[in-house]
Amino acid sequence: MNVAEIRKSALEDVKKAKNVKALEVIRVKYLGRKDGELTKILRSLKDLSVAERKEIGPAANELRGDLEEAFSKKLKEFSASSKRGVVGIDITMPGKKIAVGHLHPLTIIENRIKEIFNSLNFSVVEGPEAETDYYNFDALNIPANHPARDMWDTFWIDSKKLLRTHTSPMQIRYMEKHQPPFQIIVPGRVFRFEATDASHEINFHQVEGLMVGERVTLANFKYVITEFFRQFFGPGTHVRFRPSYFPFVEPGLEVDVMLNGNWLEVMGAGMVHPKVFDAVRYNPRKIRGFAFGMGLERLAMIKYKIPDIRLFYSGDLRFTNQF
Ligand code: PHE
Repeated sequence: MNVAEIRKSALEDVKKAKNVKALEVIRVKYLGRKDGELTKILRSLKDLSVAERKEIGPAANELRGDLEEAFSKKLKEFSASSKRGVVGIDITMPGKKIAVGHLHPLTIIENRIKEIFNSLNFSVVEGPEAETDYYNFDALNIPANHPARDMWDTFWIDSKKLLRTHTSPMQIRYMEKHQPPFQIIVPGRVFRFEATDASHEINFHQVEGLMVGERVTLANFKYVITEFFRQFFGPGTHVRFRPSYFPFVEPGLEVDVMLNGNWLEVMGAGMVHPKVFDAVRYNPRKIRGFAFGMGLERLAMIKYKIPDIRLFYSGDLRFTNQF
């Protein structure tokens, strides 16, 4: 390579150098003490004729100065950018967020309900989603042709089997196999053959509650439920009990909570009807109990101010990612 060629290729190499290490390799290639391209020329000057030396000497020396300047300029560029991190990467730039999974709002609500009732000594049990009309209706004092069956629009599988319209059938299943005293909750999916709108879905979730013993009274119910809602919605929450009707309780109640100045209905409940105890061969003269049922979606909608029940099953990440 002659001086002009070295100038061209060395300056180009310096321009392309990606880091300090690459720059050093280039420096050695052109200015290295042993085999540097320019070093070789400078070293050979003394062997040249006077005329040649006069022509090449100044050009070679000038190039040496220019190259040294180019190297130190490039080095400064690197050290400036290394203050920001690895060459070419701005470490002050916000990183890419890695999306991690999280719980569905209904799962969060269900876990919270279980936690509160566990602290009140209730155990959690679950039951089948496909039921017989016996467990869903008859044993709960709702015989065939009883007008109360209209309270639950039903998906029938055949003339005897159905998708449970509430978690109450688990009251019967549990009492058939256990003796009082006990207190349980039953979270689970339920189904209603209804038109959907902002507050109705064909499938949703309930949590059933049942406490049975020899001295269980309505006062116990009021205490447990007030305590539950105060833990769930906050310590000052007002709870109201209204008379209502369900065939499997007597008296039947509805429970409201006051939130932002409005009474909101959140639960059906009552003292277990003697006919229900009959169905599971408990002695209604000795045994008392209270039962309640509440909708998970409704509680989640109130707690999180969710306007439409259909959002829970939309699979829309813009919705679920908010929780
Ligand atoms: N099973 C009732 C419903 O779905 C709620 C309820 C449960 C009422 C227990 C009273 C006692 O509407």
